[in-house]
Amino acid sequence: MKIDTTALLSFTGKTVLVTGSSRNLGLTIAAAFVEAGARVILHGSEANVPSAYEHLQAEYPEAELLQLAFDLSVPSEIDAAFAHLAAQGWMPDVLVNNAAHLGINEDGFLGQSPEFFREVMEVNLFGAFRCCQLAAQHQKKQGGGAIVNISSLAGHQGIHGRSAYNISKAALDGMTRAMAQELSGFGVRVNSLVLGYVWTERWNHLAEGVEARRRKNVPTAAPSSQEEIARTVLFLASASAPTLVGAQLVLDGGMGIQQLPKDIGV
Ligand SMILES: NC(=O)c1ccc[n+]([C@@H]2O[C@H](COP(=O)([O-])OP(=O)(O)OC[C@H]3O[C@@H](n4cnc5c(N)ncnc54)[C@H](OP(=O)(O)O)[C@@H]3O)[C@@H](O)[C@H]2O)c1
Repeated sequence: MKIDTTALLSFTGKTVLVTGSSRNLGLTIAAAFVEAGARVILHGSEANVPSAYEHLQAEYPEAELLQLAFDLSVPSEIDAAFAHLAAQGWMPDVLVNNAAHLGINEDGFLGQSPEFFREVMEVNLFGAFRCCQLAAQHQKKQGGGAIVNISSLAGHQGIHGRSAYNISKAALDGMTRAMAQELSGFGVRVNSLVLGYVWTERWNHLAEGVEARRRKNVPTAAPSSQEEIARTVLFLASASAPTLVGAQLVLDGGMGIQQLPKDIGV
């Protein structure tokens, strides 16, 4: 038996929208799709998208790129952005919902204001919902597509003091399952990638000793690199596993499978 693996991760001819690709993980995911031959829509705020666009243009002069700034907490901006994509012939075959409000606040569950809670939900849940809906309507019409929602262990176990974020990611995973059920019959595959520690620039500013403690908290003793995550997103979005739908693929260095860090033991 011969298994052809050569074309599995090619995205030539595909259009990909990565939300929150103006920096950090989203930008790395966008670059990986460019490497794989896709034309890529970069998204984020007015302040940051242009520099991400210039960065990728310089890195990949042949790449087909589009930059699009819109605020995920403003439904009318999302609708206008997708109308623009439709008019330009850039509707996404693949949507990666990566943008997020990280929900960092000092006040915890008891002290956070309802406005703050709503702000996090607007971006992480409602914004993602509307992008999913508009992309999936197009994908259903064209006979298929893929959506990858970037989730977090925070949605399964929680991060202390970040309840709005935790709740938003749990809900995002619920949305992944609900969408996968309704849409897989139309060839639209929806999956989520659940992350633990990700190495972003925030790791360069951790207080002394915190990096070592974080590493102790993970069986692999390492955060996931952005490149590893990007490769996994490409796999989920590719035709490699057509029946992989509604999954919550966990990429966390084993953080979620341990009850206690090894230095505590039993
Ligand atoms: N970093 C981690 O350790 C970690 C762990 C688990 C899961 N994750 C998940 O991985 C993803 C990326 O994380 P990250 O650390 O790379 O995030 P990040 O550095 O905070 O970047 C967030 C991105 O989302 C965009 N964004 C945020 N609010 C927006 C809004 N209202 N409208 C439009 N764009 C908005 C930002 O755009 P601008 O910068 O242009 O405003 C930026 O491009 C997120 O879904 C996060 O939950 C991260």
